[in-house]
Amino acid sequence: MMSGPDLENYSSSYSVNKPSGRPVTGQKRTLELEIFESEQSTLEAAATFVSDQVNNRQESVLLLPTGRTPLTLYTQLVSRSQADQLDLSRVTTFNLDEFYGIGADHPGSYHSYMRRCFFNQVPVAPQNINMLDGTTPDPVAECRSYDQKIEAAGGIDLAVLGIGANGHIGFNEPGSTQDSRTRLVVLQPETRASNAFLFDNQPAAVPPKALTVGIATILQAKRVLLLATGEIKAQAVYDMLNGPVTAGLPASFLRLHPSVSIMIDRNAAERINVMQRTI
Ligand code: PGA
Repeated sequence: MMSGPDLENYSSSYSVNKPSGRPVTGQKRTLELEIFESEQSTLEAAATFVSDQVNNRQESVLLLPTGRTPLTLYTQLVSRSQADQLDLSRVTTFNLDEFYGIGADHPGSYHSYMRRCFFNQVPVAPQNINMLDGTTPDPVAECRSYDQKIEAAGGIDLAVLGIGANGHIGFNEPGSTQDSRTRLVVLQPETRASNAFLFDNQPAAVPPKALTVGIATILQAKRVLLLATGEIKAQAVYDMLNGPVTAGLPASFLRLHPSVSIMIDRNAAERINVMQRTI
């Protein structure tokens, strides 16, 4: 844990530079980094961020994550929706990814996750919910059509992302390139292990492949919100901010995006040692 009282609900403008101090792209890029005391406060702030986006533009097109991290985000959004503080009736959603080879009704699928955690409890119009079909016989056509649907919807207004301990975003595992589009990918063993909670805690039961929205599609979103909690994410968060921009750590490509907000808890901030405080 980082010590001192100064990290509590810390809000900062964070200039991402190479260790030499030279900007990565020749042009200074600023990410908004907020570090919160707890997982709960991180996800509450994320819910406020998403709610503000939707309240400002009710027809927002959202790119949505799954996994453990956003569980509290969805709980929060559901309660705000049920308390009439958030109107989700006009949003369009796209999910980031889905396991390949299992159907929407499989309890481990992200379709099931999203129904359970979110869609069954909020008034998002069914025709505005978009998810990749893990049972498609033609993944190339399925992925191309998904990218076309995103384009037809006017592009993503807000992409909400988690980060893997290996630096993946969506299921863009290390090796994914900046120009990658929605496609079929092979999951790394650690990614299957971290999803075992959806498959009776059996990593071997997690499908070995998945469909994921690509890096290029994520980078085209108007705004990006990245969430990370827990010490297990600390190294990936550090590398995303301080290491090279590289396919070896796909989240680092977010440094090429002009409008990224990063919300993390203090455990995920453990390795960050270069911060510029502006308040
Ligand atoms: P997690 O996954 O929230 O389950 O840690 C995040 C991710 O892999 O993107």
